[in-house]
Amino acid sequence: MGFGWGALWAGAAALLLPPAAACWGLALLALLAGAAWLACRPLRLWRGPEAVGYVGEAGWSRAQVAGRVRKSRRTGPLPPVYPNGWFRLLDSAQLARGEARSVAALGEQFAVFRDLNGQSYVVDAYCPHLGANLSVGGRVVGSCIECPFHGWLFSGKDGKCTRIPYAEKVPEFAKIKVWPTCEVDGMIFVWYHCDGVSPTWQVPEQEEVVSGAWAFRGITEHFVNAHIEEIPENAADIAHLSFLHGPCIMSGVDLRHTNSKFWKFIRHNWKAEWQPEPEPDTHCSCLIVKHNITVFGTCIPLLDVTVSAKQIGPGLVFLFFKHSFLGEGILIQTVTPVEPLLQHVVHRIYYQRSIPGFIPKFMLWAEKVQFERDIMIWNNKQYLSKPLLVKEDAAIQRHRRWYSQFYSAHSVKFTSQKNGLDW
Ligand code: FES
Ligand SMILES: [Fe+2]
Repeated sequence: MGFGWGALWAGAAALLLPPAAACWGLALLALLAGAAWLACRPLRLWRGPEAVGYVGEAGWSRAQVAGRVRKSRRTGPLPPVYPNGWFRLLDSAQLARGEARSVAALGEQFAVFRDLNGQSYVVDAYCPHLGANLSVGGRVVGSCIECPFHGWLFSGKDGKCTRIPYAEKVPEFAKIKVWPTCEVDGMIFVWYHCDGVSPTWQVPEQEEVVSGAWAFRGITEHFVNAHIEEIPENAADIAHLSFLHGPCIMSGVDLRHTNSKFWKFIRHNWKAEWQPEPEPDTHCSCLIVKHNITVFGTCIPLLDVTVSAKQIGPGLVFLFFKHSFLGEGILIQTVTPVEPLLQHVVHRIYYQRSIPGFIPKFMLWAEKVQFERDIMIWNNKQYLSKPLLVKEDAAIQRHRRWYSQFYSAHSVKFTSQKNGLDW
């Protein structure tokens, strides 16, 4: 239990004591300290694969409903399931010096470890000797990781085995696969390319995040049961903004109730434009969104926000907020495929330190509400390779052409079988 929770509990407990002035004074002090701590601490929300986006049924648990929807979903031809690019594996803060962690993503098992100098490495988790998982009980030794089974030692730099404790000689071919990695903006990324091509672009550093000028104010994590491309394609689907994201956020995330009469007097209005970026940033695209709120049909100009969202490759988005008096900051979205049709989506918000923390926390919460409405669609929809589009939907096709650059000759394909999903 942290200091803040301790203070809150102590304050509450002291209020129950006899009403001596000193006692209540102390209680109030403790409560104030606890409340201040709560206000300052980053917002953290974690939603599991079954937590949101499914319509419950009497007597069924959420997990049962989600399982049935996943199994019975019709899957037509799908794009490959793992695009080429940089994908977040962990937050930097999740990996201490000398620690190793196992991450399953992109159909791979990665061992991510950090040496005592702070350098992080990503290697195949399975030891080529007899298949033990290096990150489950393995020890970090210098810039190497030691297998917990027989003690073979592998370098995080080039994957070479540098020691076999019981052998006279280490064979040349004793190696483990090393994955290109980078640690930027508080996250550890892996470069995944099905054809083994080296990184063709880099994850950009956001100067205000790295320097600490913008403070970390919160994080949300979601699991989405959909093909990865559905998530970025949302940016080019301009028409859904007014329809799905128009109802007031106070009406919640369950699409059966978002058009409730009670909140009808408040609406979110959106204008958006999506464009791919020119050379040398053809792996990027840009969405400019202008948002305002109307109350009884009257616009409240003070709440106008313009967001520019830069998609960088297949699994990373920087959303920049700039507001006349609410300051500026960034919401970083990462999407990492855990399985062919299961995506791990993380949103992290950093905001100008001079702006009170509750403002970016509210923004993150509002984004979470709108994102969970999308999840309810994604979790239950079918990917259509030939959607029935009208002229106003043209950006969706342009987005598909743009996103196809992240697939190549040996991209992993998804195949569905008659009774259930197989891949
Ligand atoms: S399985 Fe790793 S050293 Fe034997
Ligand atoms: Fe959306």
